[in-house]
Amino acid sequence: MFDLVKTRRSIRKYLEKEVEKEKIDVIIKSALMAPSSRRRRPWEFIVVTDREKLKELSSCREHSAKFLEGAPLGIVVIADSAKSDVWVCDASIASTIIQLTAHSLDLGSCWIQVHKRFDEEGISAEENVRKALGIPEKYSVLCVIAIGYPDESKKPYEEENLPYEKVHYERYDKEDAE
Ligand SMILES: Cc1cc2nc3c(=O)[nH]c(=O)nc-3n(C[C@H](O)[C@H](O)[C@H](O)COP(=O)(O)O)c2cc1C
Repeated sequence: MFDLVKTRRSIRKYLEKEVEKEKIDVIIKSALMAPSSRRRRPWEFIVVTDREKLKELSSCREHSAKFLEGAPLGIVVIADSAKSDVWVCDASIASTIIQLTAHSLDLGSCWIQVHKRFDEEGISAEENVRKALGIPEKYSVLCVIAIGYPDESKKPYEEENLPYEKVHYERYDKEDAE
């Protein structure tokens, strides 16, 4: 697990290779096992492999989503906010599990933030995604996780360079990290 976390990086360039159904199934099963507050499971997932749809989704927001048009797979993470006041936490945990599971299967992935983001015209990215995929109004859209076989390589995190100053032991005390 430590090795997996250390080597996971956001991958935004993908090979022209489909993600096998077996791998998609493992990723989805993993997401469905994500913990959620009071086991409310407010999340739902939309698996998108249609290239036209992925292209459409890539313009759901301003900046930082364009690369989705080059991905063979996008998993849209939505949640029924009426089911849980902490749906953002629940859906974020599921999204992270999706990313780590993808990485464990030699796939690269990147989170595309949708919630609280807007397109060039000021229309909410959530609205654009809902419209593109026929998602009912009651659902909030947290993010799209773009997934595919990596066509770029990034260095793993280095243990020596982690921001240890962010960690405090027993109580908040700046000197702890010095
Ligand atoms: C909540 C969240 C939102 C993010 N939104 C985007 C995004 O919209 N577009 C993007 O390209 N990357 C996005 N990222 C990826 C971050 O830019 C990336 O995780 C960060 O730069 C650290 O790089 P690493 O993932 O390679 O460790 C997001 C990550 C998180 C956790």
